[in-house]
Amino acid sequence: MVHKLEPVQQGATHATGRQGMVSAVVALFEQAALTHDLQAVEALLLERAASRVELIRAASTHTIRSGGKRLRAALALLAARLGDYALERVIHAAAAVELIQAASLVHDDLVDQAARRRGRVTVHARWDNDVALMVGDYFFALAADEMARSPDPRIITFYAHAVRTVVEGELSPVTILEPTDQALAQYYYKTGAKTAALFEAACKAGMAAGGGTDAQIVALGRYGFDLGMAFQIIDDILDFTGDEQTLGKPAGNDLRQGTITLPLILAMERTASPRLRNLIDIAAPSDAQVQDAISEVAAAGGVAAANAEAQRFIRQAIGHLADFPPSPALHALARLANFVVEREA
Ligand code: FPP
Ligand code: MG
Repeated sequence: MVHKLEPVQQGATHATGRQGMVSAVVALFEQAALTHDLQAVEALLLERAASRVELIRAASTHTIRSGGKRLRAALALLAARLGDYALERVIHAAAAVELIQAASLVHDDLVDQAARRRGRVTVHARWDNDVALMVGDYFFALAADEMARSPDPRIITFYAHAVRTVVEGELSPVTILEPTDQALAQYYYKTGAKTAALFEAACKAGMAAGGGTDAQIVALGRYGFDLGMAFQIIDDILDFTGDEQTLGKPAGNDLRQGTITLPLILAMERTASPRLRNLIDIAAPSDAQVQDAISEVAAAGGVAAANAEAQRFIRQAIGHLADFPPSPALHALARLANFVVEREA
């Protein structure tokens, strides 16, 4: 059965661009008969965002309507479908993970003072810092409410652990570029904590809502974790290869802010040229210097090597699905893994 789940060749959908990618994911959700249930999650999120306080309602609705691919909710739903599926048993776990994600992004944009996300003005920029702080907290409280409505108390534990881990990851910067093994250890720890932990929790929560066994919950959690690792590596690659139009935020942000990510670490490992070193030592680089550094990282093979790492995590993720019997939901989880490494935004 594993052969059916092998990653498709990289680049298979590249030519179609962002729109193609989004419609491919939408088509996948339609094929997996997931669209109706994702719409139900969306409706629930909007209903919960409707606070009696106008300011909170406006800022929460603005954030929910900024959307995103709802990958984490889809993971929870698909995981539940590997077991005994009932939408009402999993919908709260699917909504909870999107609310945690919304909370973390509103706070992240506040911390980073980012002007835009997904092409839309951020909450702190549209309103102010206090509103962003409170709206993030509000989403967080909504998430707790959804968890409490879930049928299996372990779901609360999975998400509570994930949130704790996300915060720990967020406050664990990559501080060095060399020696490479130490830089990689810092990068992988941070990435696992700040991104992969929540993917893992969504999968475990979904599997628990579907009545899965402990072994199935562990396996799906590993799938989610490795998928999350690949997702964040691609996110970090896109900061080097994307443009503002496709990303919905300026490219080159990480270099500009001195954030060390995988393409840079792997480029430094591969190049003896002092040019890249000199460029990244500049405290406040100009746009031209950021562009130069981006070119140097690609020329040194940093982007290609990071891409190979993302592919490795995807193969690993798909490997964790090997013991589940074939089903449309299992097939969709494998295909979703491939989309994650092919996305362009
Ligand atoms: C985006 O990463 C941000 C995160 C993955 C998590 C941010 C978490 C916090 C601010 C802590 C609060 C957490 C919770 C759960 C309430 P990024 O900055 O690499 O990506 P970006 O370019 O999309 O901003
Ligand atoms: Mg950020």
